[in-house]
Amino acid sequence: MYSLRVAVHLVDHPLVHDALAILRDAATAPELFRRMAVRISLLLAAEATRDLPALPVTVSTPLGPADGRRVQGDVVVVPVLRAGLGMLDAVLELIPSARVGHIGLQRDEMTAIASRYYSKLPSSLEHSVVLMIDPMLATGGSAVAALDMLRHAGARDVRLICIVAAPEGIALVEARHPDAQIYTPAIDRGLNEQKFILPGLGDFGDRLYGTH
Ligand code: URA
Repeated sequence: MYSLRVAVHLVDHPLVHDALAILRDAATAPELFRRMAVRISLLLAAEATRDLPALPVTVSTPLGPADGRRVQGDVVVVPVLRAGLGMLDAVLELIPSARVGHIGLQRDEMTAIASRYYSKLPSSLEHSVVLMIDPMLATGGSAVAALDMLRHAGARDVRLICIVAAPEGIALVEARHPDAQIYTPAIDRGLNEQKFILPGLGDFGDRLYGTH
């Protein structure tokens, strides 16, 4: 279905998979679901920023000078509303200086086609590392719509962080944005007729916010 022309980074850390198992469990209540969403997002964001440039520095410990490295460069985090908001605080905890954009996409329940209802992006994205956060890469419709908007705004280095991906979503991103990078711990079986990921974890936004 996809040829891996697009870079898919399969994150294999045991703590990531521990949190994912709890997120998948239908018995997990919203409070724990939110905590696990934060935990897994922190770990995935650490993986997606592994190659951020760093500058050598010397700092003074109480006992003398020590060589170190400080992260350099502009990072922009873009949650895709609503579900992506559940991942935002975790990424900002890791990179407090990051600028934040928002993209609001509504998925039509019948057709699963994404339409835009909100967009506010920081300026000058050309040299930024853009972390697009959207937990469920299902049909890929929302991801591609958001990637279109980011590209149009000038972004070149876009890394999509998702918690569960479907082969269909990866294939669409690959067809439309082969230079994007995808970070995910799980590529599931596929989609059901309602375009939910199987086995997936259900509706991420509903489980995060307790709406049904
Ligand atoms: N969005 C969700 O929240 N879950 C899915 O399975 C697919 C899209």
